Amino acid sequence: MPELVTCKSELREKVGAARAAGKTIGFVPTMGAFHEGHLSLVRAAREDCGYVVVSIFVNPTQFGQGEDLDKYPRDLEADMDLCGREGADMVFAPDASEVYPAGFATYVVPDSSLAGRLCGASRPGHFRGVDTVVLKLFNMCKPDVAYFGQKDYQQSVVIRRMVRDLDLDLKITVCPTVRDSQGLALSSRNSYLSPRQRKEATCLYQALTDAKKAVESEKFTDTALVKSRMRDIIEKVPQARIGYAEIVDPESLEPVEKIDGRVVAVLAVFIGDTRLIDNMILDSS
Ligand code: PAJ
Repeated sequence: MPELVTCKSELREKVGAARAAGKTIGFVPTMGAFHEGHLSLVRAAREDCGYVVVSIFVNPTQFGQGEDLDKYPRDLEADMDLCGREGADMVFAPDASEVYPAGFATYVVPDSSLAGRLCGASRPGHFRGVDTVVLKLFNMCKPDVAYFGQKDYQQSVVIRRMVRDLDLDLKITVCPTVRDSQGLALSSRNSYLSPRQRKEATCLYQALTDAKKAVESEKFTDTALVKSRMRDIIEKVPQARIGYAEIVDPESLEPVEKIDGRVVAVLAVFIGDTRLIDNMILDSS
């Protein structure tokens, strides 16, 4: 079993001892409710690093009003067990008061050119909450390498940019999206779906693979055409409602009109009340 630590001074002490023993520190920040997607990050960290810390913290500052902060799935015991099987050394699971003590007043605010688009457009303040907690966790844990999933593509871009812009001394590794056998990207929020909705939710993967085929095999270069094919696939599903369906530059996240080289197809789709996101790299070269 990994060691369970809830206080940041103990985290610093234990990580400091591992570093003094010559180990590289791998860090996997999460909000818990583990599935294979999370565990793939722990596995990657285990392969690369001598000491692996997994944080579990459902970060209140990245949830907007009316979002699912209260009903977000939590199961520390099961998560500890799964981390143990993957060979993590420590689980850091602080209380909200440990991360945001009374009087907390300083936030990291990513520029709206990056964080105001896509998910940021409908979730104002979300990436401010993400950057703030991730920087704080980096400062507490002082990792050499931190692991994130491509599943949350915009999040990975916003965090990589924070690391670059604020000269943080660590490496970010982005790991591929883990999917179920039908192609549905694993997400803690899939637990909100009924069995029927779960089937319908595969329309995200179908739309993305269609976009990949359009660009890479059929050599489409006009994003308007590729996007309308994606929309058609999703709109055929009775319970699906599109939040966004875009094709964007992989770094700036700006919409692309003509496809020349690498772009990313990004989707947010409501299945009933549950908002799902997914993405795929398309490479015309
Ligand atoms: P959470 O949603 O718990 O995700 C933790 C990490 O797991 C993120 O880097 C996410 O991209 C990755 N992940 C989720 N589903 C995945 C999948 N199917 N395949 C591969 N990786 C996947 O993302 C957060 O938490 C938070 O915003 C956090 C970064 C911890 C800040 O609070």
